[in-house]
Amino acid sequence: MSMTQERTRTCPMGESVVGFADRDPFGFYEQLREAGSPIWDEQAKAWLVHDFDQCLAAERDESRFANAYVFADDTVKEIKGGGANITLSRDGDHVKLRRFHFKLLSAANIESYRQNHIAPVLAASLARLDGRETAELAADYAAIIPARVICSLLGMPTDDDAMVAEILACNDAIVAFIASGYRDLDLKEKALAASHRLNEMLLPFIRARRENPADDFISRVWREAPDFGIDLDEAGALGICRELFFAGSDTTVHGIANALYLVLADPKVMAAARDSEAALSAVVEESLRLMSVVQFRHRFCMQDTEVGDTTVKKGEMIILLHAAANRDPERFPCPAEVDLERPEPTGHLAFARGTRSCVGSSLARTEMMEATKQIIERFPNLHLDPSAEPPSFRALYMRSMGPLNVILGPSA
Ligand code: HEM
Repeated sequence: MSMTQERTRTCPMGESVVGFADRDPFGFYEQLREAGSPIWDEQAKAWLVHDFDQCLAAERDESRFANAYVFADDTVKEIKGGGANITLSRDGDHVKLRRFHFKLLSAANIESYRQNHIAPVLAASLARLDGRETAELAADYAAIIPARVICSLLGMPTDDDAMVAEILACNDAIVAFIASGYRDLDLKEKALAASHRLNEMLLPFIRARRENPADDFISRVWREAPDFGIDLDEAGALGICRELFFAGSDTTVHGIANALYLVLADPKVMAAARDSEAALSAVVEESLRLMSVVQFRHRFCMQDTEVGDTTVKKGEMIILLHAAANRDPERFPCPAEVDLERPEPTGHLAFARGTRSCVGSSLARTEMMEATKQIIERFPNLHLDPSAEPPSFRALYMRSMGPLNVILGPSA
C-alpha cells in the first residue's frame, strides 16, 4: 500500500502551471520532475501529472479520469458547439463518433486530401510571400494554412480572409476559456459570444449541403454519419463540423510554427529536412515532442485513484502535463535535444493516447510536413533574420515559438 500525499507536495516557489503565459516553462517542468509526480498546484487547484507513464495510465482509463466536459453545464456545451460534438460525447456515443471521424480522417484518405486540399492552400499561401524579402512566418504562413485546409475539406471558400480571421479569433476566445479550467466567468461570456458567431458562419453551409450534397466533409457528415448509428439533426451536424474546425485549425497553426522553428533554429536540422522525407518526418515528430502544442489537458477524477504515491480523490482535477511528460528522461534519453534518429519517433504524447487521442493526427502531420517542405524548397536560403526579434515561447495552453522573423532570400 503506497503512502497517501495530502497535497504536501506542492509547486516550487509558489509557482503555478497557469503562470507561464509567454514564459518558457521547461525549467519549471524540470523542478516539478525533481519534486515528483503528481504535484499539487494550488493556483490551478489541480494535481499536475508530469510522469509519462502516469499520463498514459490516466488517459487509458476514462472510468477513473473523465475528460473535462463530463460535468459540462449547458452553457459550456453551447460554447463547444453542442450537437454531436465528439468531445462532449461519452461511452457508446463517443465510440460511434470516433469510428466516423476515423473514417473521414484515416491515413488512407490523407493522400487525396494532400493533393486536393493541402497542396492548393499551400500554393496560395506561398504565393503571398512572392516578391517579399522578409516575412514573419508564424503570422504570414503558419497561421493562414490550417483553417483554410479545413474550409476546403468542408467545402467552404478558402479565399475569404475576413471569414478565416474571424473563425480563428472565435476559436481563440474559446481556447482562452478552456485554458482557465472552465472557471473564468468573463472568459465564459466571451466564449459564448464567439460560439454563437461560429454557428452563424457555419449554418448556411450546413443547410446548403443538406439540400444539395457534394463530396465535401459537410455533405459526408449528412450522408455517412447515420451509417455509424449517429442520429443527426441540424444541431448534430453543426456540432461535428464545429469541432473539426476547432480541433483542426489553431492546433495545426502552432504545429506548423514549431516545425518551422526547429528547422530555422539549427542549420543542421534544416539540411537534414531538405535531404530526406524520413528526416523531415523526424523533424515534425521532434517538434511535436519537444514543444507540445497542447501543453496540458484537464481531467476529472471519478473515483479515488492511486497515482504514483498519491491518492487523487474523487472530484479532484488533474492536469496531464504532456509538455513535461514528453521530456521525461526515463522515456526519452537527452530529452531536451533534437534527435532525428529516436527509435520510436512517434512515441510522444503530443496527440494524447487512449480513448480521447487525436483523430486528426494524420492530417496534422501531413500539413506540418508539407508546409515545412514547400517553404524550405521554395526558399533555399531561408533563415532567421538576426536583426529582428528572436522567437520565444508564446501563450500558455496551446502554444508555439514565435515570432519567426525570416529573410526569405531568392525563390527557387
Ligand atoms: C498539430 C496539430 C494537432 C494537435 C497537437 C492535436 C492534439 C490533440 C490532443 C492532445 C487531443 C486529445 C484531447 C484530450 O485528451 O482531451 C486531440 C483530440 C482531438 N483532435 Fe487533435 N490535434 C491536432 C490536430 C487535429 C486535426 C487536424 C484535427 C481534425 C481536423 C483534430 C481533431 C481532433 C478531435 C476531433 C479530437 C477529439 C477526440 C475525442 O474526443 O475523442 N486534431 N487532439
